[in-house]
Amino acid sequence: MLLNRPSRPPSWSCTTASTTTLTSQTLIKALHAHAEATKVTDLPAIVALEPAIKFNAGGHINHSLFWTNLTPQKSPEASPDSAPKLHEAIRQQWGDRKTFQQKFNEQLLGIQGSGWGWLVRQGTTGPLVIVTTKDQDIVGKDQVPIFGVDMWEHAYYLQYLNGKAAYDENIWTVINWKTAEERYLGGNADAFKVLKAAI
Ligand SMILES: [Fe+2]
Repeated sequence: MLLNRPSRPPSWSCTTASTTTLTSQTLIKALHAHAEATKVTDLPAIVALEPAIKFNAGGHINHSLFWTNLTPQKSPEASPDSAPKLHEAIRQQWGDRKTFQQKFNEQLLGIQGSGWGWLVRQGTTGPLVIVTTKDQDIVGKDQVPIFGVDMWEHAYYLQYLNGKAAYDENIWTVINWKTAEERYLGGNADAFKVLKAAI
């Protein structure tokens, strides 16, 4: 089994890459062991493997979504103009983009320990919701992830040390609004198509 993942953005200076390489290796091992245990219906072995699969598969999914919703600063995709329909929905919900970003950052800073912040579309028609997930938990099955922000210490420590607030402020200069618009207009399968291409 090959478990590739989308490339990390070239300018992304964090230790996430090596962490997720390890995560992928652990996940492949756990998936192989799970397949073997399933063949012989070894129920205790299957149950024992599930936490490792949940954690490592979550890490694979979350980083795949995250890296593809980033783009270099000042690239065309970093312009909010790349997401006209999404911004209309943001304006309807929060009044303006600045207010939305403030609310999003408040949620990011409220995460205790490691986790992720997400803008999701609830169901097929909305509304938009800001959610956080703990550790490597993924967003809910009925939520379309539009973009996510890695709030594990390894994502910001090299560049910002303990400056989580500065990391959260600057993340807005590298959000790929073009990808965000595509995910907003698409379904859950569209948001996760990067995974189908990678596995
Ligand atoms: Fe990470």
